[in-house]
Amino acid sequence: MADDSNVICASGDLEDGGKGVRFNIDWKGQKTPAFVIRHKGVAYAFLNQCGHVPVELDWQEGEFFDAEGVYLVCATHGALYDPAKGDCIGGRCNGRGLTPVPVEECDSRIRLLKYQLIK
Ligand code: FES
Repeated sequence: MADDSNVICASGDLEDGGKGVRFNIDWKGQKTPAFVIRHKGVAYAFLNQCGHVPVELDWQEGEFFDAEGVYLVCATHGALYDPAKGDCIGGRCNGRGLTPVPVEECDSRIRLLKYQLIK
């Protein structure tokens, strides 16, 4: 039987440009918030920390995309990020992008790689 300990969510939980799923990981020994979204069919995950001030991006749980579902947006001051790479596209992130978190999609599940999921 497969090890489900690092499964973040089911593939069907993520819609392209839609709501993301929040989770916590062990990042350098600290419980750290992260999230996963789907963009152009691919699941991408990042630490949930803005490049401007290290606050969480979503003002409503799971709402990471802008109204058009194109860029990730920080709810605090509106910094915009590329949903595939986490690069700062505009606003107060001033070139400081999001920190990517490795995930894989397999058997209709999104699984955290390399790090430990904290439930
Ligand atoms: S805290 Fe995110 S843009 Fe300022």
